[in-house]
Amino acid sequence: MAKRVFMPSKDFFKTEEENTDLQFIAKTFAGFEEILAKELKQLGARNVEPKGRSVRFSGDLGFLYKANLGLRSALRILQPIKHFIADSTDMLYDEAKRIQWSDYLSIHDTFSINFTVNSEIFSHGQFAALRLKDALVDYFKENTGKRPSVDKEDADILIDLMIAENQVFISVDSSGDPLYKRGYRKDVGVAPLNETLAAGLMLHTGWKGEVALMDPMCGSGTLLIEATLIALDIPPATFRSDFAFMKWKNYDEELFLKIRESRLDRIRDLRMPVIGFDKRMGMVEKARENIRNAGLDEFIRIEQADFFEHDFSELKKGIMVFNPPYGKKMELPEIEFFSHIGDRLKQHFSGWDAWIISPQEVKSIGLKAEKRLATFNGDIPCNWAKYRMFSGERKAFVQENLGVE
Ligand SMILES: C[S@@+](CC[C@H](N)C(=O)[O-])C[C@H]1O[C@@H](n2cnc3c(N)ncnc32)[C@H](O)[C@@H]1O
Repeated sequence: MAKRVFMPSKDFFKTEEENTDLQFIAKTFAGFEEILAKELKQLGARNVEPKGRSVRFSGDLGFLYKANLGLRSALRILQPIKHFIADSTDMLYDEAKRIQWSDYLSIHDTFSINFTVNSEIFSHGQFAALRLKDALVDYFKENTGKRPSVDKEDADILIDLMIAENQVFISVDSSGDPLYKRGYRKDVGVAPLNETLAAGLMLHTGWKGEVALMDPMCGSGTLLIEATLIALDIPPATFRSDFAFMKWKNYDEELFLKIRESRLDRIRDLRMPVIGFDKRMGMVEKARENIRNAGLDEFIRIEQADFFEHDFSELKKGIMVFNPPYGKKMELPEIEFFSHIGDRLKQHFSGWDAWIISPQEVKSIGLKAEKRLATFNGDIPCNWAKYRMFSGERKAFVQENLGVE
């Protein structure tokens, strides 16, 4: 007789904690997966797994609140409901109708569907979303005779539909307004950086306030504000009062308030100067206003100055972060503008580190990049590159510090 072999279930090796875990997906920008995965691990997420433009992780409901409050490089956090394969909109409808929708909403809730479709089978994303809506509505009609309504502007429950070829992912969105909507930025300039992008770039530099920080073309001040929030350990969602999970059936307000309070307690100090410059007075005023809105005016100073003319010699050495202008409205051709920046850095900023975000088509600024992260600013492929300005000859520096020629 064949021996009976004990076959443990997939969950057998999990601890009790992991068995009560919920699965989540945090979305981010291309190139930021590792930055977000690191943030998630530091916050205490389990089973952190970076994928294209997103990171999967698990945790309990309290962790979901913590993640929405504290993640700097995430755009939104989804809770997956169902993943299946469908080769037609009818299959999508059938599978979606089998979901226990009453776990997520009631007939009194309103809902909306956000979709991202990248598929030859589902060439009309709008139609796929419509079939998902039909499935949800028919589920309720058949079970209760009534149906919840769609509200495109201000729905209670936000459903996310993502299709990649024949893979269908249906989730509920726990964030609502994307997490880059921090709430401190009322007035912006011509090309402000997205707050999540700025925060991810700053996390990548590793700056936490140990040396001075300067943005010589600061615009509305986003890089400096996000950097200062990092250094002070202030959660980026401090200024937000609304998250989509607050309308979920399982929303635990007491737990949320407790987590929010404990998160706000952990505030560090910042002793190093944080300074921004812009050549346009209008931008200087906008940046100052945003800094005031974020409650950071005691930490960040903004002045009017032209990077190519101002005497910066009174400043402490530290790191510089740049988001120079690019696009159609440039006074000089882009390549020339960036090589002027390179020249100015070489001649006047020895001892500084500079991080510059520039379009990938700007191949060189005349300095050798020490590190490079490929990402996007809007739809422009960009590099976030680190340049080190040596005092004296680069060769001597390399020999002295690295012991190589
Ligand atoms: C792309 S914007 C920066 C946007 C900023 N990161 C934000 O989030 O708002 C570039 C800024 O560089 C400034 N600028 C351009 N040339 C400059 C110069 N020579 N010196 C100082 N600022 C300059 C512009 O006025 C503009 O505000």
